[in-house]
Amino acid sequence: MTIFIAPQLIRAQTENASIRFDKQTQVFRIDAADVSYVFGINEKKAIQTLYWGKRLNAADTFAAPVYEPGVAAFDASNNTTRQEFVAWGAGLYVEPDLKITFPDGNRDLVLQYVSHTIAGNHLTVRLKDISREVYVELQYEMDPATGVLRRSAEVQNKTSSPLTIEQVSSGTWTLPRAQDYRLRYLTGRWAGEWNLREQLIQPGKTILESRRGSTGAQNNPWFAIDRNGSNDQDSGDVWFGGLGWSGSWKISIEQDQVQQVRVTGGPNSFDFDYRLAPGESLQTPYFYAGYTHDGIGSASRLLHRFELGSVLPGAPHPKLRPVLYNSWEATGFNVNEAAQEALAEKAASIGVERFVVDDGWFGKRADDHAGLGDWYVNPVKFPNGLKPLIDKVHSLNMDFGLWVEPEMVNPDSDLYRKHPDWVLNFTGRPRTEGRNQLVLNLARPDVREYVFNFLDKLLNENDIAFLKWDYNRNWSEPGWPAVAPEDEKKVYITYEQNLYSILEQLRKKHPAVEIESCSGGGSRVDLGIMHYTDEVWPSDNTDAFDRLKIQDGFTYAYTPAVMMAWVTDSPSQLNHRTLSLDYRFLSSMQGSLGIGANLNDWKPEDFATAKKMVAQYKQIREIVQRGSLYRLISPQNGSEHSVTESVSADQNAAVTFAFLHSSGMLYPFPRIYLRGLKPDSMYRIEALDGKLASDTPAVASGAFWMQNGVDVNLQGDFQAAAFSLKVVAN
Ligand code: DGJ
Repeated sequence: MTIFIAPQLIRAQTENASIRFDKQTQVFRIDAADVSYVFGINEKKAIQTLYWGKRLNAADTFAAPVYEPGVAAFDASNNTTRQEFVAWGAGLYVEPDLKITFPDGNRDLVLQYVSHTIAGNHLTVRLKDISREVYVELQYEMDPATGVLRRSAEVQNKTSSPLTIEQVSSGTWTLPRAQDYRLRYLTGRWAGEWNLREQLIQPGKTILESRRGSTGAQNNPWFAIDRNGSNDQDSGDVWFGGLGWSGSWKISIEQDQVQQVRVTGGPNSFDFDYRLAPGESLQTPYFYAGYTHDGIGSASRLLHRFELGSVLPGAPHPKLRPVLYNSWEATGFNVNEAAQEALAEKAASIGVERFVVDDGWFGKRADDHAGLGDWYVNPVKFPNGLKPLIDKVHSLNMDFGLWVEPEMVNPDSDLYRKHPDWVLNFTGRPRTEGRNQLVLNLARPDVREYVFNFLDKLLNENDIAFLKWDYNRNWSEPGWPAVAPEDEKKVYITYEQNLYSILEQLRKKHPAVEIESCSGGGSRVDLGIMHYTDEVWPSDNTDAFDRLKIQDGFTYAYTPAVMMAWVTDSPSQLNHRTLSLDYRFLSSMQGSLGIGANLNDWKPEDFATAKKMVAQYKQIREIVQRGSLYRLISPQNGSEHSVTESVSADQNAAVTFAFLHSSGMLYPFPRIYLRGLKPDSMYRIEALDGKLASDTPAVASGAFWMQNGVDVNLQGDFQAAAFSLKVVAN
């Protein structure tokens, strides 16, 4: 007999996460979307990973897990058995999830299952050391829509003495035994963030990390692992994930003795320890990971959907990003009431919705040598405070945003003169400056209070809709002399906890205020900060051609909805490249559009172009910011072309951006084969800029656009085109 299952039933099934525990086999199974995650309690009461991959049949069962044999006398079973969370003890050589030193010198820790609780979508598994009152609670929650699993661990000291945590992770993800895994990850530096790298996973370990006190651009806490060496955007197994932590972090990717790949992530253990007093506990950051059977393109789309649905402020319905103007590249520190008002008028005339005053408005800030820490409005630049400018901006139908860098101080500031002990430092040692500034130790309660209070006051006294929260250096001399020496290294955790709690408290008190995470570009973008900030600044490199690669890399991990992209001046201040205004707009329109050019230098035709493009962006922004992103042609690896397509959630509309670096030998631009459309629906095509090939039909089916493709007329150097598709008949 054939059983017919109505499509809506299949949908209902995939939209529920389920957690089941089989008492007989002691196996936990979590299912959601297209993913199953299975682990169990083995005969030694260790928590053993059994399966992570494509969703299994509901009827499939697993036998009770048994410890793997070890390798001769050299690797006992605890090294070869896949474990969800393994403590350092009993001869463990693979990456541990937890390492503790007890006051009596004992450093052996062996965790065993004690109990568990299932509450709706949340599973807690309790472990305990074989003899000491040290407990670890493993927490699991799977997102019903995407199958992305959120993990963290809480270490609890129920002994009667303090203990020292020397290393702790949020958990280990273990992939099935195989030799053909490939790792993708992101590297970068100031003005050159978001480089996508890939390497085969070999026996041994790859460490992605930051020791900088914040996320960093050198590695981003994101990974994706696929199989078969396939380079396909749309097919193949991919396991991917990201750590929600904005402090020093580490993700270890290790192929063990028996070819299993283990991914362990958490706060960085370098220069780290955390003393846990009796009765205290430490909760690790969230480590999120997912799986797809449909290639790296699908992995990014799932992450984007998860970020919009579960991570960002306002999730599952975060607000669309407004078009903003920021004069940083135009005026630098030289901001004042009259000049900003003049720029505001020009910005409003092209349809800008948010006007942002960047660095320079406060204290004695003439350049980057002074003023950070003194958060009063500069009386020379703004003799009447910010109110007249804010009123002007409002009268032009825009809201108002302001730049701040709350965690920093210039030695040349009243704040530092009054509180030289408020910065990270080691007593009696030099204090290394970066951009003439030092890092305030946010772990200190008085610093936390000062930072919250000045921001709260600023927001109480001014009608501010948006803060651009900058962070322009990394840590040095990370000492905290005010606490006992054995507590100093807690700074790596407490600083971040206080940062998050300030952001949370501010958002609660000022719910309408939006925040951007900026760190001299994209040095603080991660799933932790994104929980408190509505958008991020990917790079100080705003050259629209370089941005194609930067944006491509960025979107492997993060949604284009939060990816700020300004149209700035040409030639570019950074690399002196000359690009047309159309090209610059189309590059930025792939993310959240902003304008950062000097409008005082624009000609009437530039204003006309900008006005047209801003209006077009407003028509398509929901597709770009909420839709599914398809990378049709990658700009990486010296490619002469780049094409992206965003398809609306209901698949009724799409927008495509195409860029030509340089044409040669009279070859035409590659034909563009669209993706993600409904094959049987009819779509009308419309060029945003008149560059479609003349034989392009006005209306055709989704199948036609996907299979027959579209040609655009792009020739020469640095050319761009864009077109949209809209359903006319379903
Ligand atoms: C670094 C940021 O990335 C820039 O956009 C700008 O805000 C400057 N800081 C201001 O100092």
